[in-house]
Parts: sequence; structure tokens; C-alpha cells
Amino acid sequence: MSNFPSDKPVVVTCGLPYANGKCHIGHLRTYVPGDIFVRALRKQGQEAVFVCGSDAHGTPIVVNAEEQGIAPKELVNRYHKLFESVFKAMEVEFSIFGNTDSPTNHARTNSIVEALIQNNYVYPQVIKLAYCPRDKRFLPDRYVEGICPYCEAVARGDECDQGCGKHLEPGEIKNARCRICGSPAEYREQEHFFFKLSAFSGFLSKYLNTLWGTSNAINYAKEWAKDLKDWCITRNLEWGVRFPGHDDLVVYVWVDAPIGYISFTEEWANRTGNDWEKYWKGDSRIIHFIGEDITYHHCIFWPAMLKGAGYTQPWAVVASGMLKIDDKKFSKSRGYVVWVDEDYLDHGFHPDLLRYYISNYTSHTKELNFSWKVFQDKVNNELVGALGNFLHRTLHFAYKNFGRVPEGEVDKEIFEKIKSTTNNVISALDEYEFKKATDEMMELAQYGNAYFQSNEPWQLIKKDREACARVVKNCLQIGKALILLFEPVLPGNMEKAWKQLALAGDVHSARFEDGLIELPSVELGPPEILFSKIEDKKIKEMEAILDKRVKLAKSKEKKIEAEEVKPVITFEEFQNLDIRIGTVLAAENIKGSDKLLRLEVDIGEKRQIVAGIAKSHDTSQLVGKQVVVLANMKPAKLFGVESCGMVLAADVEGAVLLMPERKVREGTKVR
Ligand code: MF3
Ligand code: ZN
Repeated sequence: MSNFPSDKPVVVTCGLPYANGKCHIGHLRTYVPGDIFVRALRKQGQEAVFVCGSDAHGTPIVVNAEEQGIAPKELVNRYHKLFESVFKAMEVEFSIFGNTDSPTNHARTNSIVEALIQNNYVYPQVIKLAYCPRDKRFLPDRYVEGICPYCEAVARGDECDQGCGKHLEPGEIKNARCRICGSPAEYREQEHFFFKLSAFSGFLSKYLNTLWGTSNAINYAKEWAKDLKDWCITRNLEWGVRFPGHDDLVVYVWVDAPIGYISFTEEWANRTGNDWEKYWKGDSRIIHFIGEDITYHHCIFWPAMLKGAGYTQPWAVVASGMLKIDDKKFSKSRGYVVWVDEDYLDHGFHPDLLRYYISNYTSHTKELNFSWKVFQDKVNNELVGALGNFLHRTLHFAYKNFGRVPEGEVDKEIFEKIKSTTNNVISALDEYEFKKATDEMMELAQYGNAYFQSNEPWQLIKKDREACARVVKNCLQIGKALILLFEPVLPGNMEKAWKQLALAGDVHSARFEDGLIELPSVELGPPEILFSKIEDKKIKEMEAILDKRVKLAKSKEKKIEAEEVKPVITFEEFQNLDIRIGTVLAAENIKGSDKLLRLEVDIGEKRQIVAGIAKSHDTSQLVGKQVVVLANMKPAKLFGVESCGMVLAADVEGAVLLMPERKVREGTKVR
């Protein structure tokens, strides 16, 4: 039994892209499967609203707008339009693509926050916040940079995006610096508002047992639900949705962004004469397609918020794995990025090819690697070699020899094959296994090819025209089923193929089960080639573009390092640093960390120091070595080990330790 159609109203959403940068393949990893899923629902007779829009608020947008010298609104409008046009070009067809800065979203956010306050889930608390004394402002989220308290990676204020990926609460980051001017941050007290997430632990642990979706999301969420911290939900920003009753505060972006799902449904409903409440207040199925990195927000924070304000909670959360480019971690700053407009569409590639790649490269929850070479292989062997070849040879042969779809019945065996493939596709989609589903479809194309090949219609036509007609009819019927099955993945080309088969109606609104309705004997026109091979030359060209971008990023990175300006300091300020020579007495690895070592260093007195040099240094080689130590570094605990001081090293990959020119007495001062 499949999950759909259901008599409950269905809304499918995709994570809202920050209107802060261009659309890249990493985005499509969520949106394309979301679109395929919705199209496939319709093919099963299930209506669904498909909702997405721009995430307009939050510090990344304010920081970026500030850097470009424009208003946040202007920045948002620019990228909003860009995303909208790329989605259109990629045939990702949302019912509505909204904007979280819309009046509807301001109003809905207000009403939800007020409901949470009313229900006693919000409380004020005075907290210490990073403040820049030079810029005279508080430093929310990405306005601060520092060290992640959990894994020691360089992190932004609200998220350890280069390291362990944890969400960081205001004030949590260590060694905070202002991102605008580089000054060390001070801490000032201010009243903020917290959402009592901890009150939902009982609810969440039950709820997560009923939540559908992909295991990567749900299993993590179950772990997290065991230990919940309240969330600070206000920020000192101008741009955002005002926190009720406090003109100097806006709500944290992760409050008003998911509420966008609701308000966009409202906007869509108002436009089309539907009722949004049946999706968000009634017994419905809310299905969120997201990137794996925002699981916490969707499986923990968001259901708690909905519950606390009296709304329906998600029925399923479907999380896609992360993206790699040429086996390197996707990174805009390092140049490992493929932009959908300038690197793909502008080079004349059809959207269907990338849609197929994304859905078929690997399971939805696994890491997806994009490389032009594999792209070429998949297009040439699978879309051209298997699917395109079968459809074309069948249509071409039928047109040339019969001029129409032959009369007569389709074999039972053929219908059986179509039926079992369709069932397999549907059950794979029920589990959000897009690779399994598309493999099944492709297998039917291979089956068709083998059937065509082994029946040799080109011989049969000379000997037994009637037998040949039967083979052709069977092939055409397989063709029809293939077109229907592949439509969610390849909407553009399957629309063309549908017309080539001279089928009436609209392929997009036809059903999977129509594949079992026998083709009428209609006249056929000359078929056109659907998919063509991608030449080596083209792939080389695309690889060169990527290569150039990576090289450029590398040279830029070096420049930035060299140009980094620090504020001028006085000799007195320098003298505040207690730098001394020490000798390493002992070194050992720290359990649970592959980066950190615990050192005992004699600096005139014995000190325990934690150093992030485990990847580059063997413990045995360190003992007896002299090192340079910052002795008056504020003590910190890392992985449970107290660190009293810092060993100095040149900041290159692999860390190169500084050492005195010749052996000197332990504790010797460095000036
Ligand atoms: N803009 C966020 C991101 O790109 C996603 C927001 S999804 C929503 O990570 F749930 F908040 F809407
Ligand atoms: Zn971290």
C-alpha cells in the first residue's frame, strides 16, 4: 500500500533559500527532488500545494547588504528575482514563491510569537552579549567571529559552519571579534527573550516517533531531543520582524523563516480561493524538503514552536545529503561551486539532464558528488543510450513502417512489466528514494531495448507484418509508460515525447496508471531526437571554467591573508602578552578529538596546554622540543581538558611550530 493518494490535504515545502547569493547546484539538491516528489504525487492523483520563497531576514543578509552599500530590501529583491527565474528555468514549479518580508509573514509571525508568549513559552532573561566598542553596536550572529566552544574551529556567532556544525547561542562563541572592524568584542548585558524549548522534550520524544521522512533527519533529531536548550529568539537588528512590544528587537530569523511556509500557503490560498487553515490547523500532511544541515531547526525547534502556538506539526521531514564538487567539499569561497545560471543553463544544457543527475547519482540522503565527467557519462549512457535510444528507435520504426500506432492488443506480459515497474517506482518515492525510483524507470527503458533487439522488428517487417505490428505496439506502450514515469524527472523532454506519441491531453496532469491504458491507433509524425550526446570538448570547456575558479579562489585567499589589517597597538599593549620559552615534557592525544593534543610544558613552571596540532605532529617527536608559549592566555577547557596557555605556531595547514634558535632556559621571556 502506498502513502498516496490520501484524503488529507498535502503541503510540500522546500527550505527557503537566503536571498543573499546566487542559486547553485547545492540548492537544487533539495529543490529538484522536492519538485519531482510533487509532480509524482499529482501523477498518483494526489493534489499538493508546493511552497517555497526567499528567506529575507537574518544577519547574513544585513552584513552582505552593508558590504555592498545597499539596503537589505534591495539585496533581497535582487536575489529573490534571480531565484525565481532559475527555478522557472529548471522547471521547479512552486505553487507560490513568497518572501518572508511580506506583510502576511510579518503578521503571521507576530501572531505566532504572541501565541507563544500567551502560552507562557517565552521569558525574558538578561544575558551577556558581544558588543563592539569601536562600532558601538551589539554583534548578533554573523557580526562576530571567533572559536567554536565545542570543536575549536573558527566559527561565526550563531553557527559552527566550518567545524562541528553546531548551532551557537548568543555569547557562546569564544575569542569573539567584530567582523566589521576586527576589534575584540566586549560583553554587555542586555535583556533578551527566550523560547522555552526545554518544555517540549516530552512532546518531542513522542512526536519524533511518529514523524516520517528520511532516517538521517529523524535519527539525529531523536538524539538531540534528549538534551534541549532554550533558544534566544530576539536579536538587536533593524531588519526583520519586530518582536512584539520591543522596538529595538527583531525576532531571530529562524523564527520568521519557517513561518514563511504558513504565510506563503496563506498567500497562495487567498489567490486561489483555498483555505490555508486546513493545511496548518487541520489534520493534514506537511512535508518539508530540507538540506541535512538544517535538520535541528525543522525537527526540533519548528515542531515545538508549532505545537506551542497551536498549529499542525510536520508529517514528514526529508533531508538531502550534502554536495561535493569533484570530490571536494562544496565551497563558494574556495571556488568549488557550480552556479546554475552561468555554469549550466547559460551553456545551453537542458534542465532535464541535471534533474536526472541529481535524482539518480546516489540516494537522497547520501553525499552527492558533481563532476562534469560523470555528468557526461550519465547523460550519454543513460539518457541518450538507454531512454532516448529506446524512445527514438521505437517511434522512428513505427512512423517509418506504419505511419501510426498499429492496431491490436498489447501483450499481457508487457502490461505486467509496466505495472510492476510503476509499483516499484511508487514505493521508492514513498520512501524518498529518488535513485531507486529513477533506476526502476531506467530499467524499464533497458527492458524495452532488449525486447526490441531480441524481436528484431526490422527482420519481422519483411516476413510477418502482423507479428511486427504487435512488437511495435508493445514497444510503443512501454514508451508511453516510460514517458509518464519519467515526467516528474524530465518534464520538458517527456512533454515533447508525449506529443511525438500523438497522445491527447497534458502529460503533466496525466496519471502513472494511464500507462496501462492501451494506446489508440493514431497517426504518428516524424520523431525528433530528444537527448543528444555531450561531446568531450564541451566537458573540457566546463572543467576549465571550474578549474579557473578554484585557482582564482586560491590566489585570493593568499592575498586576503597578507592584507589582513589589525589595529595598531602600543608597546605597552604588546607588553601585556606574557610570551615565554618552554620545553615540552609530555604529549598525548585527547580522547574524542583528532585535532587536539594535551601537552605538559615547562615554562619555568609546569603548565598543561591543549594545542590543535594533532594532525601534524606525533606525540613522541614533541617531547624535549622547545616551543614558544603565550603564558597569560585565559584558561579554557577543551574536551574536558584545562588549557593554561597557548603554543605559538605559523598558521598554515598542518601548523608549523615556532622554536627558539638555540636552546634557552625555560621561562625565558620573548619580546
Ligand atoms: N535560509 C535557510 C538556509 O538556507 C533555510 C530556511 S528554511 C526555513 O539555511 F524553514 F526557515 F524556512
Ligand atoms: Zn564547532
